Amino acid sequence: MDKKVRGTLGQVHGIPLLECIVKQWTKVENFQASKEDLLIATYPKSGTTWLQEVVDQILNVGDAEKCKRAPTHVRMPFIEMAPTEGVPFDGVSILDTMDPPRVIKTHLPIQLVPQSFWEAGCKVIYMARNPKDTVVSYYHFSRMSMNQPEPGSWQQFLEKFMAAQLGWGSWHDHVKGYWRERHSKRILYVFFEDMKEDPLREVKRIAVFLERQLSESAIDCIVQMTKFSAMRENPMANYSTIPDTVFDRTSSDFMRKGEVGDWKNHFSAEEDAVFENQYHKLMADCPIPIRFTI
Ligand code: A3P
Repeated sequence: MDKKVRGTLGQVHGIPLLECIVKQWTKVENFQASKEDLLIATYPKSGTTWLQEVVDQILNVGDAEKCKRAPTHVRMPFIEMAPTEGVPFDGVSILDTMDPPRVIKTHLPIQLVPQSFWEAGCKVIYMARNPKDTVVSYYHFSRMSMNQPEPGSWQQFLEKFMAAQLGWGSWHDHVKGYWRERHSKRILYVFFEDMKEDPLREVKRIAVFLERQLSESAIDCIVQMTKFSAMRENPMANYSTIPDTVFDRTSSDFMRKGEVGDWKNHFSAEEDAVFENQYHKLMADCPIPIRFTI
């Protein structure tokens, strides 16, 4: 099978985004959200798919079969995404065929979220993951996803992440942007590490935010169905419907490890010291309780 040509980056308001997204930016910017729509926002590789599955399970009261009605990207479209070989329709076009309430995925930093979400007063769930595990996951994803630019070596990739040159830009600005607005807008801020540590507690928290009252047994069911091992085996939650020409599974799996602390297997002591130094400088003005281990 021929491999696809890799994606390239352009910019929107100074934020690097895939060129295919830049080309259709006006369509994204003008998207009309409804009050009942829910936005799931993350920096790439922060556990978006996991959070999406948790939300869909909550909205469907833990009905596993209903949640297998379609793959993740069809159930909860990725708003800014442009058509690709694996997903031959853009996020906005699929959303325009769906009736609210819709669950919508985005990786956009808060300042690029279409204005209609804020005007309508939509709820947003933001998930943050520690940046060391995020960049490791992003590196492996970029090796396997032909939609992404060529990642280069791990060292080169880490440098680009720290220089905010990867798609969707600066991790630090991204997490800070949503953190600062969490009280003035309807934003629930969730951490990957908290979900890993106590999924029952976090699923309950998300259900409360979504104003869904679920029985203990439904919540237990959701926790089981959204475990890494269960999602990895679920073709409607593991992106196995994306063709091999787009996701080169000989390089990495989409459902790779799902752990906290895998960064220790990738960062050298020197890389860690430089990263920590930058992290403390950039996060000093906005102390978010990010955990690198649990
Ligand atoms: P790793 O590459 O570290 O394994 P996103 O959905 O934002 O692209 O994030 C993908 C990351 O979330 C991958 O991380 C993936 O394995 C992890 N992930 C997906 N589902 C998960 C789950 N149920 N539990 C834990 N991690 C999960």
